[in-house]
Amino acid sequence: MTQPLKVLVFGRSGQLARALAALRPRPEVAFSFVGRDRFDLSTGDAGEPIRDLRPDAVINASGYTAVDGAERDRTEAERLNETAPRLMAEACIDLGIPLVHVSTDYVFDGGKYAPYTEDDPATPLNHYGATKRAGEVAVLDSDARAAVVRTSWVFSATAQNFLGMLLRQLDGPDEAKMVADQHARPTYAPDLAEGVLALALKLIEGEARATGLFHLTGADDATRVLMAQRVFDWARSRGRKAPAIVPVATSAFPAAAVRPLDTRLSCQRIEAIGMTPRPWRERLDLCLRTLPA
Ligand SMILES: NC(=O)c1ccc[n+]([C@@H]2O[C@H](COP(=O)([O-])OP(=O)(O)OC[C@H]3O[C@@H](n4cnc5c(N)ncnc54)[C@H](OP(=O)(O)O)[C@@H]3O)[C@@H](O)[C@H]2O)c1
Repeated sequence: MTQPLKVLVFGRSGQLARALAALRPRPEVAFSFVGRDRFDLSTGDAGEPIRDLRPDAVINASGYTAVDGAERDRTEAERLNETAPRLMAEACIDLGIPLVHVSTDYVFDGGKYAPYTEDDPATPLNHYGATKRAGEVAVLDSDARAAVVRTSWVFSATAQNFLGMLLRQLDGPDEAKMVADQHARPTYAPDLAEGVLALALKLIEGEARATGLFHLTGADDATRVLMAQRVFDWARSRGRKAPAIVPVATSAFPAAAVRPLDTRLSCQRIEAIGMTPRPWRERLDLCLRTLPA
């Protein structure tokens, strides 16, 4: 019997790492998850676990993801989001193996007011976006056989995310303020995990069209208000008390980091290699069905 392909994943308890771990088991793939407890990327050389494990491919599901925190922990954000992927790419080049790195819609300033393509210039507004952009460049400008996947508004049932915040509002106050002027395409973590793994497998097979920069999000445009409405309607249909939504502007929530207002991503490039974005409403409904009653 042939040995399964070894895929090293940086990250273990993060949203994407958990979604990768929860994918339908495939006999041809054996994941090895490297979380912070096993290797701290803010202090160590990210190439070390790769050279130790000698996998067939690497997926970087780790990162410094606290958008406001990055304004304060600037060096930590740079180490995680820029230095670590650069060192991963170097180790992958040495071993001749592919790398899939994950990035963000926050590399854009949100001022296009139309879906961004991979060819649009990236001009981040905050330090998180700047460090993520630097990580993209480090990987794309290296000689690594690599794919960089930008995504947005990732949700799942298992994480501290916007969906979790909405669920915590149930059975609480009568009203909830929701930002109405931010636009993006929400992405169900299991769909992102599937796409990222598919790219890794294509790269292992040597498929040239799987290299470079890709956008991968859910289909259809959203705002925080639209997501909240869907979750609160679902909760009411199950007899729960949900707050009335008070739409507000982003400026109603003062924050350390400036947010881009419209980061809808066009996914045509990844669609051309066979991956279809899925409507976020259907995926949110599916996610809600996985929650305990
Ligand atoms: N969440 C979103 O809405 C969103 C939107 C756009 C792009 N993205 C991108 O998607 C990727 C995955 O995001 P996510 O939502 O899964 O993030 P997450 O839930 O915040 O998870 C972050 C991951 O990074 C790892 N990590 C953090 N600090 C570390 C350190 N010092 N050493 C080693 N590992 C460390 C964590 O390790 P442990 O497993 O050990 O905790 C965890 O697995 C990131 O590149 C992010 O920028 C996310």
